[in-house]
Amino acid sequence: AQDKRESLYVLSQWAGKFFKDTLWQTQLGQAIGLNYFKERGYREDIIKKFDLGYSPDNWTALVDEARKAGFTDTYLKEVGLAIERDDQSLYDRFRSRVMFPIHNLTGRIIGFGGRTLKTDKKIPKYVNSPESEIYHKSNVLYGLNFAKKAIAAEDNCYLVEGYADVLSVHQAGVENVVSSSGTSLTEGQIRLISRFTKNVTILFDGDAAGIKASLRGTDMLLKEGLNVKILLFPDGEDPDSYVQRYGAIAFKEYIAKNQQDFIFFKTHILLKDAAHDPIKRAEVIRDVVESIALIPDEIKVAVFIRECSTLLSIEESILLNELNKIRIGVA
Ligand code: UTP
Ligand code: MN
Ligand code: MN
Ligand code: MN
Ligand code: MN
Repeated sequence: AQDKRESLYVLSQWAGKFFKDTLWQTQLGQAIGLNYFKERGYREDIIKKFDLGYSPDNWTALVDEARKAGFTDTYLKEVGLAIERDDQSLYDRFRSRVMFPIHNLTGRIIGFGGRTLKTDKKIPKYVNSPESEIYHKSNVLYGLNFAKKAIAAEDNCYLVEGYADVLSVHQAGVENVVSSSGTSLTEGQIRLISRFTKNVTILFDGDAAGIKASLRGTDMLLKEGLNVKILLFPDGEDPDSYVQRYGAIAFKEYIAKNQQDFIFFKTHILLKDAAHDPIKRAEVIRDVVESIALIPDEIKVAVFIRECSTLLSIEESILLNELNKIRIGVA
């Protein structure tokens, strides 16, 4: 089994090089893939550091080359680089996409995300490697291998939604950044972060999906005892588009100015919805206190209860009463 895993690593590494060579050394790779990355504002050193690549516009380019290099069909299917048709022939999963290899903590390639360059809404924007014996999605954060040193040094981790966000933010000199790759945060991913820091700042997209994802992510982080701050980008922007549009300095200023402790963020967001409806307001209060109740540290709980009492203009004793009800499970 160990041999097999090792073979899958070797195959993934090989595929990473295949996509990389296609990007840098073929005419189409340069004209389409490299040009795309540069148009998006990525510097060559970043494109190289993150092992970005390009997959040929061909149904079997990778499968053909992999077989020549001695890799078996079984392993090609296992890591999802090849997909099997009904007649058992194989074709490449990634075709004419710009490629983002996904590395594990030690820097080995374990999977890929491939972005289409087409704007056709019917085509999935990103195609991703499936789970495999070397790629357990719930235990991987994109960019962590490049970020872990900076996360420990800064004692903070920025969490973004996508591959492009990690690249642009990293390029701007904020290297303590990782992505959950568009899925909701898992306990495994949170434990990975907490090996390096207890402080997380969520930088999610400024759209409804981003707000929803950040509210969901925070409760999990709180339960694990992490400190959570949140920052939303203006509607339609994400960290990548923001930093590319306004530059590194403005980006850092935006973060410093707009990051908010999650409890206040959540309270504001929910209150906005509730407006002056008293029943909805009561629900907001309960919802916020439920989040506070997840925090293992009693001192932090006390601080948040006090601040929320001000924010919600409601007596502290009522919030404490609600907190106790939630804790003993009668609320
Ligand atoms: P977004 O839709 O915000 O894409 O999805 P993005 O990262 O901003 O991509 P660009 O800037 O258009 O290139 C966030 C993340 O969700 C995952 C990817 O990991 C993406 O980076 N995703 C998104 C998918 O896996 N598949 C999709 O079709 C879309
Ligand atoms: Mn396993
Ligand atoms: Mn989004
Ligand atoms: Mn984006
Ligand atoms: Mn985005």
